[in-house]
Amino acid sequence: MQQKNKTILVTGGLGFIGSHTVVELQNEGYDVLIIDDLSNSSIEVLDGITQITNTKPKFFQIDLKNKEAVVQFFKEQTVDGVIHFAASKAVGESVEEPLKYYENNINSLVYLLQEMIKNKINHFIFSSSCTVYGQADRLPITEEAPTKPAESPYGNTKQIGEEILSDTSKVTPLNAIALRYFNPIGAHASTNIGELPLGIPQNLIPFVTQTAAGIRQELSVFGDDYPTPDGTAVRDYIHVVDLAKAHIAALERLLASKNVEKMEYFNVGTGKGSSVLEVINAFENTTGEKLKYKIVGRREGDITAAYADTTKANEALGWKSELTLEDGLQSAWKWQMKVNS
Ligand code: WQD
Repeated sequence: MQQKNKTILVTGGLGFIGSHTVVELQNEGYDVLIIDDLSNSSIEVLDGITQITNTKPKFFQIDLKNKEAVVQFFKEQTVDGVIHFAASKAVGESVEEPLKYYENNINSLVYLLQEMIKNKINHFIFSSSCTVYGQADRLPITEEAPTKPAESPYGNTKQIGEEILSDTSKVTPLNAIALRYFNPIGAHASTNIGELPLGIPQNLIPFVTQTAAGIRQELSVFGDDYPTPDGTAVRDYIHVVDLAKAHIAALERLLASKNVEKMEYFNVGTGKGSSVLEVINAFENTTGEKLKYKIVGRREGDITAAYADTTKANEALGWKSELTLEDGLQSAWKWQMKVNS
C-alpha cells in the first residue's frame, strides 16, 4: 500500500534491523527520518541504504538520553509514526554494566514517548524480543505464553519497555505494537547493508561467518548436552528482510486503526527451530565453506529451545516469513565477504 507523504521516524535506523526496515519503508513510499547516536553503528550505513533505494533518509545524530535534544527534534519535525530500535543489546555486556542498560534503554524510551504524546504522535512500534519468554514451558511459543523473570538486564529492559507501553497506552491516545523477535540473521541481497558486530561477535551467525572468513580461529559450540535431538540448543532464525517487512505490516495496522487493543504483541519468527549443529551443516552445505568448530560447555543464561508460533502475526498482520535459514546463511556469508573485501 503506497503511503505518500507519511513520515516515519526510525530510531536506531543505522543499526542491523533498523537499516533493513528503513529500506522496506522507503520501498513502500514512506518518507523516513533516522535518529541514531552512532554508538553501535556507522554513518556509512546511510550510504548503503541510499545505494539500495536511491533516496537518502534524513539523518539526525541524537542521543535519546538527551531529553532536550529529543524535545527539540519534535519541535522541528513532523512525524506520523515511530519505529523504535535504538537500544543497547549485548546480553553479556548488560550483566557487567546493568546501569548503562537501564539508563540507555529505559530513559530514552520514556523521553521519546513523552515527546510523542505531547506532539500527538500516537503510532509506536517497539523492538522487543522472545527473550521475554525465557525458557517457555511449551513449544512453539505463542504470545499468550507467560513472560518469565529476565535472565539479563538486557532482557529485563525489553520486559520493562513493554510494561511502560502497556501502562501508557491505557491512559493516553498512544497505540503500540511490540514485535517479539526471535533470532535475526542474514543481510540484504544487495550486500549494501548487513550486520556489523563491533568486536568479538556474541551472536552465532556473525561468529560463523567470521570463522569461515578466517577472522576467528574456531567456532565454540556452547554445549551439546541439551535435551534436543542432537544435544545442541535450538533457535528460530529469521531473515532480517522478513523481519523488516513485519514492521511495515505492524505500522500499517496502526495507521489504518486496525489494532483491536491499544497495546498488541506479535511473535516474529519463522516457526521453525534449528539446532546449532543444524545451522553449521546448513552453512557448510549452502556456501561450500568448511567450518572449524569445537564443542565446549554451555553459555551462562542460555535456554534449551525457542521457536515461534506465528499464527497471530500471519492472521492479524497478514505477514509470514518467506526466506529460509539457507537464504539467511547465504546472504550473511555474501555480506561477510563484501565487508572483508
Ligand atoms: C544462538 C545459539 C548459543 C554463539 C540473543 C538474545 C536475543 C537477541 C539475539 C538481541 C545459542 C549458540 C552462540 C557462539 C554458540 N539479541 N552460540 N556459539 O542467545 O539465542 O539470543 O541474541 O536482539 O534477545 O537473547 O542468540 O546468536 O547468541 O545464540 O554455540 O559463538 O547459538 O548458545 O544456542 P540467543 P545467539
